Amino acid sequence: MSPKNLLLFGATGTIGSYILDAILSARSQFDRVAIFTSPRTAETKASALEKLKAQNVEIIVGDIEDEEAIKAAYVGIDTVISALGRTALAQQIPLINLAAASKDVNLFLPSEYGTDIAYSPKSANEKPHQLKLKVRALIESIPREQLNYSYVVTGPFAEMYLNSIPGLEEAGGWNVKAQKATLLGDKGEDKVSLTTMKDVGTLVLAAIQSTSSATLNRPLCVNSFTTTPAKIQAEFERQTGTAWKSVSFTSLERLRALETEAWEKGHPAATGVTLRRIWTEGGTLYEERGNGVIGEPAVMGLEEVVANELKRVSSL
Ligand SMILES: NC(=O)c1ccc[n+]([C@@H]2O[C@H](COP(=O)([O-])OP(=O)(O)OC[C@H]3O[C@@H](n4cnc5c(N)ncnc54)[C@H](OP(=O)(O)O)[C@@H]3O)[C@@H](O)[C@H]2O)c1
Repeated sequence: MSPKNLLLFGATGTIGSYILDAILSARSQFDRVAIFTSPRTAETKASALEKLKAQNVEIIVGDIEDEEAIKAAYVGIDTVISALGRTALAQQIPLINLAAASKDVNLFLPSEYGTDIAYSPKSANEKPHQLKLKVRALIESIPREQLNYSYVVTGPFAEMYLNSIPGLEEAGGWNVKAQKATLLGDKGEDKVSLTTMKDVGTLVLAAIQSTSSATLNRPLCVNSFTTTPAKIQAEFERQTGTAWKSVSFTSLERLRALETEAWEKGHPAATGVTLRRIWTEGGTLYEERGNGVIGEPAVMGLEEVVANELKRVSSL
């Protein structure tokens, strides 16, 4: 049965807002679109929530740790989409248990939208994957008659991949103002698959619109395009019409050293450095991407992403 009544968690967040936008672009295909949001967000983002109400979105304000509030929110909902942030990933455990116990909820999309956390046997030991792995283990332990799931795996968000981590510029990124780039890998020629944030929304929408045995109860590894740091650099230089002042390379070996140091120092971006190391090792490459099984929706390309970044920086 195709999803008709949706409830989103984290819909006011970074990627949740793109997912909600995409769903609203197809609003007439759904009977209900509801979001569950915190009292704090209801206060701080009141005008954005008013705009959503005007687009026929039900706003449920509550505490995600309040079981009764969640049970009430699940009534009449067939599909739950979570886009909760990294600090709230564990909060999905009770949300999933309650979804399994609900007579209405049939499909749960946990907050993934990133690196494939089961890419290889090594993935099981990666620090940033631990909570998402716990969530997967729980959802997979639930009988399928009770709850189906779909993991939308997108790899790095293209826009974020372009930007360096403040204080950790050696871990890769493009600084348009300074015309300075740090490319990951010895020569920047290792492939990486990226998904723009808009496309994450497009691909989640397509995933719920085309539920089938090819999309349900498995990872759905999708992306906007596959490129290399060197190709990104070439596109920046083509669009800016100039050879950049400084282009350097960070080898995998150096990236691994930066990663160790970041974890040892308790750097808040240690997770980001680990993910960049995984991406540079080829952790976003698949024999076949899943866009085809969800109807090959139109997605963005490198040229547009670079153009958007140049526009963003010039407007600062
Ligand atoms: N592939 C990539 O490059 C990439 C980059 C960033 C994130 N991601 C992934 O995308 C997913 C969403 O991340 P995000 O950065 O979009 O999230 P976010 O903006 O940090 O948070 C999303 C929402 O979650 C809710 N939330 C946050 N902290 C919470 C807490 N402690 N308790 C309860 N609710 C909380 C809030 O919603 P309300 O206040 O409305 O309830 C918030 O707006 C994650 O799985 C993350 O790993 C991937």
